[in-house]
Amino acid sequence: MENNHWWNKSVVYQIYPKSFQDTNHDGIGDLRGIINRLDYIKKLGVDVIWLNPIYESPQVDNGYDISNYEAINPTLGNMADFQELIDGIHERGMKLVMDLVVNHTSDQHDWFKESRKGKDNPYRDYYIWRDGKEGKEPNNWGSYFSGTAWKYDDETDQYYLHLFAPEQPDLNWENSQVRRSVYDMMNWWAAKGVDGFRMDVINLISKPAGLPDADKNDDEKYANVEPLVSNGHRIHEFLQEMNKNVMSKHKMITVGETPGATPEDAEKYASLDNKELNMVFQFEHMGLDSNPNPALGKWDDRKTSLKDLRANLTKWQEKLYGKAWNSLYWNNHDQPRVVSRFGNDQTEDYRVKSAKMLATMTHMMQGTPYIYEGEEIGMTNAYFPKLDDYVDLESINAYHQLVDDQHLLDGKTMMKYIALHSRDNARTPMQWDDSQYGGFSDHTPWEKVNPNYKQVNVKNALADKDSIFYYYQKLIALRHTLPVITNGKYALVPGNEEDDQIFAYTRQDDQTTLLVILNYTDETVNRHYQVPVNAKLLISNYVDDQNDTIRPYEAKVYQY
Ligand code: NOJ
Repeated sequence: MENNHWWNKSVVYQIYPKSFQDTNHDGIGDLRGIINRLDYIKKLGVDVIWLNPIYESPQVDNGYDISNYEAINPTLGNMADFQELIDGIHERGMKLVMDLVVNHTSDQHDWFKESRKGKDNPYRDYYIWRDGKEGKEPNNWGSYFSGTAWKYDDETDQYYLHLFAPEQPDLNWENSQVRRSVYDMMNWWAAKGVDGFRMDVINLISKPAGLPDADKNDDEKYANVEPLVSNGHRIHEFLQEMNKNVMSKHKMITVGETPGATPEDAEKYASLDNKELNMVFQFEHMGLDSNPNPALGKWDDRKTSLKDLRANLTKWQEKLYGKAWNSLYWNNHDQPRVVSRFGNDQTEDYRVKSAKMLATMTHMMQGTPYIYEGEEIGMTNAYFPKLDDYVDLESINAYHQLVDDQHLLDGKTMMKYIALHSRDNARTPMQWDDSQYGGFSDHTPWEKVNPNYKQVNVKNALADKDSIFYYYQKLIALRHTLPVITNGKYALVPGNEEDDQIFAYTRQDDQTTLLVILNYTDETVNRHYQVPVNAKLLISNYVDDQNDTIRPYEAKVYQY
């Protein structure tokens, strides 16, 4: 089956606007900063830019709490800046994807301000209000950001649901007026020329009927709601309705963020007939290094083994082949830096080699690759030592809940886990050069700069022809020119299933085979693969090829 949509061979670059480039001297990135850097992004060769939320917002969750869907947050710029940005993107032949956050709004959104006023207010039913149970919350659901998912409001003596922060009340998708308002807003942005949407936690919008208690273990103060709330009973109906009312009218690219989605779910969301979404962000490979105790979730220090990673990525490649479309990612604004997490940032040589090896792993697979700002220069985790260094509410709340409140971890251990997994690792300012604040701003940034900016920065990357940047540039160009990367069939090299050092797979179509060989470790290993004599070495992160001797973090792709 040939996948011939424009986005099938596209590569997306994700920008976290607050951390990308400041131009108005307030230590916060802005739209003008992005405009000034468009030539840099174009040079990388990507096709699409995805912006994290830029809408008006009190910034409790960095823009994922939207108070006005049709206005730009003043710290980032205004509508004229937005117009200039989208024009600049289009003039360079790229497209723009906006973040769509419609599981919840800010509590400062007019809809919620009205809703809160009284039970008879026309907006009351835009949100999920319930009576308490015996003086307590309506059910045992926990919030993604620690604590209960319910907030009591004395105005009407009821609770409202917030799966995220209390300032992020959940919209009631059962209400057809809510859905209509969302579709109108999406069409409004499409009319402005927006080319697509990344849909925030979109598979959480259909809540289970009756909002029953969720399963919970003794260590958990409140239940982890994800298994109960994700992929709810009306989700496909809602997405098909959205598709009919919005996506089918425009040539869009859509990607749904879908925590808890399995390949079987993805086959429905992202099936090739495009009745719902074009693809989803699944989280299975992001959860392989989580703590086995659900009460601790991602707070842990284990490393993902190659066996687990390969089995997972292979499952997704195989199950979606010919049925649905994959997205390919290591990083985003919620995840630690890939080179620190799956690679090795302990020496400069390993940082560069392992960043390229991991890039090769996903960029040779089937799907749409997403590159998160700074990934293309191998930015690392910041490993900030003190809780005070962290800004993100998820890390701060988790520390207080797990250490101070529940005593499940001691402070030192939790700080070690936060240094590895905090979302702040992704949000440190983009490192442009070796000047103060990494060239991000001339004012103290809202989030500290990673101390390694003097060495790891765009200026150095552009000056070095062997840099990670140029390696990504080459991977992107290969995707644009070699159809086998878009449509070839994926297979593990026979016998590779149990190898705990080397990952070896092929992509194949009628004309071409690619053999991808990746060393996941810092050891030199010997393996023999059948490489035809006429094979060409397409890309590699070492200057020479030593055939069966595969050096630390070596990546090589043969074409024949
Ligand atoms: C997922 C987003 O990626 C994350 O940054 C945000 O905090 C939550 N959804 C809530 O909107």
